[in-house]
Amino acid sequence: MDIKALPKVELHLHLDCSLSYNVVNAIDPTITEAQYQEEFIAPAKCHNLADFLTRAPKGIELMQTPEQLKLVVRDLFKQLAADHVLYAELRFAPLQHLEKGLTPEEVVHYTEAATAQAVRETGIEARLILCTLRHYTEAQSMETVRLVEQFKDTHVTGFDIAADEAGFPIAAHVNAFEYARQHGLFCTAHAGEAKGPSSVWETLAYFGPSRIGHGVRSIEDPQLVAHLKKHQIHLEVCPTCNVQIDLYDTYAQHPVDKLYRAGVALNLNTDARTIVNVSLSEEYQKMQQTFGWDIADFYATNRQALLAAFIPNQLKQDLLFQLQKRYHALAPQQIPAQ
Ligand code: ADE
Ligand code: ZN
Repeated sequence: MDIKALPKVELHLHLDCSLSYNVVNAIDPTITEAQYQEEFIAPAKCHNLADFLTRAPKGIELMQTPEQLKLVVRDLFKQLAADHVLYAELRFAPLQHLEKGLTPEEVVHYTEAATAQAVRETGIEARLILCTLRHYTEAQSMETVRLVEQFKDTHVTGFDIAADEAGFPIAAHVNAFEYARQHGLFCTAHAGEAKGPSSVWETLAYFGPSRIGHGVRSIEDPQLVAHLKKHQIHLEVCPTCNVQIDLYDTYAQHPVDKLYRAGVALNLNTDARTIVNVSLSEEYQKMQQTFGWDIADFYATNRQALLAAFIPNQLKQDLLFQLQKRYHALAPQQIPAQ
């Protein structure tokens, strides 16, 4: 199986944590490759999520002007093309890009325009998710969710909460997710990564997302696993990232395969291509090597990703059709024709 050539759907991907050395060098030629390795990429083992996240500001610093935002979006689409990504959702926190005087609205405008152009040029379908951050105030969270509403007829499609789950409670963000619900906005939320099942329960109860970013510690509570299945809550799983933040010692100990076999809807993602230092194809290779996933498993999880994607139904049907056609062409014995 040529893993690289498999069509892929990536739902959990931080734009600001996914800069290749090429784009870093184009924006700031004084940064050497050695510095990039040292400062932008986290070691294969971090102490925890907070330690991992200390690398994020390096990329964000380089994404403060319209031109820089455009370069970073184009760079990420090149990486998506190399991984044969069919559809991607890219996320970032607009309020982190105001250091050179852009307004939050301008940040979203320029990033959205760059995404629209990259979609046209590459043929890769994509949407943007705007993130609030755990350490933000209620006002910052509300400002972020209002941007999702303001840009909802563009490539901006949903709302997320990221950053340090273990370090900050949910209280400041409940109203923002309530606003999202009232306005019919798609929502996902990071949970069950730096904290256990109680954090996933709390997130489901107070934020009401249709997907969970990570959510892998749900495996520790069989009732929660049953709940995820019953309510078709999709998990955006990023195994290498979870091993890196030392949630699991090794890839083999990661519960992704158990969750999948238990019938929880999920798909594979990189989370942060720079900090994690992984491509989506490499993530798939590890799944094949560690858990023996074959083309039918990759098809099934990509199909689940599209079913959970934050897109209108007609586009979803078109992409599901393309996915099946392309997997069938690669493995006619295993993947049925339409
Ligand atoms: N931002 C980038 N990667 C993240 C992760 N794995 N968890 C929370 N916030 C993040
Ligand atoms: Zn994430």
